[in-house]
Amino acid sequence: MTTFHIEPGGVLQGRLRVPGDKSISHRAVMLTALAEGTSRIHGLSGGADVWATARAFRSMGVSMDFDDGTLVTVHGVGRYGLRAPQQDLDLGNSGTGMRLLGGLLSGQRFPVRLRGDASLSRRPMKRVTEPLRAMGADIETHPDGTPPLVINPVGRLSGIRYRLPVASAQVKSAVLLAGLYTDEQVCVAEPAPVRDHTERMLRGLGVSVEQDNEWTCMTAGDLEAGNIEVPADFSAAAFFLVGASIAPGSEIELNHVGVNPTRTGLLTVLREMGADIRLENERMVTGEPVADLVVRSAPLEGIDISPDVVPLAIDEFPALCVAAALAEGRTRIRGAGELRYKESDRIRAMAAGLQELGVKLQETDDGMTIEGRSELSGGTVDSFTDHRIAMAFAMAGLRARTPVIVGNVDNVETSYPSFASQALKLGLSLSCHSCE
Ligand code: S3P
Repeated sequence: MTTFHIEPGGVLQGRLRVPGDKSISHRAVMLTALAEGTSRIHGLSGGADVWATARAFRSMGVSMDFDDGTLVTVHGVGRYGLRAPQQDLDLGNSGTGMRLLGGLLSGQRFPVRLRGDASLSRRPMKRVTEPLRAMGADIETHPDGTPPLVINPVGRLSGIRYRLPVASAQVKSAVLLAGLYTDEQVCVAEPAPVRDHTERMLRGLGVSVEQDNEWTCMTAGDLEAGNIEVPADFSAAAFFLVGASIAPGSEIELNHVGVNPTRTGLLTVLREMGADIRLENERMVTGEPVADLVVRSAPLEGIDISPDVVPLAIDEFPALCVAAALAEGRTRIRGAGELRYKESDRIRAMAAGLQELGVKLQETDDGMTIEGRSELSGGTVDSFTDHRIAMAFAMAGLRARTPVIVGNVDNVETSYPSFASQALKLGLSLSCHSCE
């Protein structure tokens, strides 16, 4: 089993560019593959999840040249140019890959079967199959609504006006991508704002996506090839935003980070807790806001986290729970039941690990209440094979009395293969055991 060992007492210092945004990278691969002509993607995530998506398109006849790990030239085949793959498409650990491809492939002229690893095979797919079927797709899951997804061709899909029952960018994106294969308008309304990378990128590649009050409406059209620059992943930066905030004496700068407001709920929450985080050099890069983030350690205070901010920080809760465990007083998280359906049940996984490190907390169906402490006790925690749980607990080592050992960390590869080396470079005393 691969484990992280973190010696207590590290201080984070220096400057770093974390890998390319995973969400934007998935969309960049998918949309440039469907574009007319050649596109270049700079700063692609090197994570296994995005590789799985890239492999899926290669097996459907899209050729891609990987100039180095992060610069990719994609030879788009047009909306109707994909070919039937010879085998199942294996999306590994990636819910985004499977759900977005579920939409995109519902309109193809060939059958396809999508599967994933043990964690992905437990995740709910009904949330995408329901609206896709309403658009006329022939899409099946296992009887309990989990993968594999089996999609059969149906010809043209129909339009839809769909109110999302859950605040999910994956569901919204699946519907919009299926919408590339209908002559009718496709409109979605979300119960709370969720990440809008799909809409931004579709517009950037020449597809009409309009906002009409709460409705986001798309009219399909051909995609133009183009160059896409992927910002550094805010969700990867999140671990260091928390790490530098909780480790006294820390000061770091994270460069070129995506700060799309549908992603930066963690900034709002950490600042409300007292964190010292500055945005510098704010700019737009291929339709997405980007900035350098400067973080200095600061004493944090527990707060009541508003349920409204939850979808804007959905992937950052593991890191946020570590910040809460080291804040003065109590932090209450509510309205975050979706965390139970991620790569692991993240409420359970964080509660179990924090308790192991001596934290008093109360777990609820849709969140938890965490009693902050001045330091953690050290000990062994399990990541439940979830990349974000593993990286969050690595940060916990910064304020523990004795070493923190995190088990089952292989899946850090899915989003952030260079995490251990970058964390070490910033000053975390981390060693990876049984790692390649
Ligand atoms: C993602 C959307 C979110 C997020 C996931 C990536 C995306 O999932 O948790 O890591 O790229 O669209 P949900 O849409 O299920 O909330």
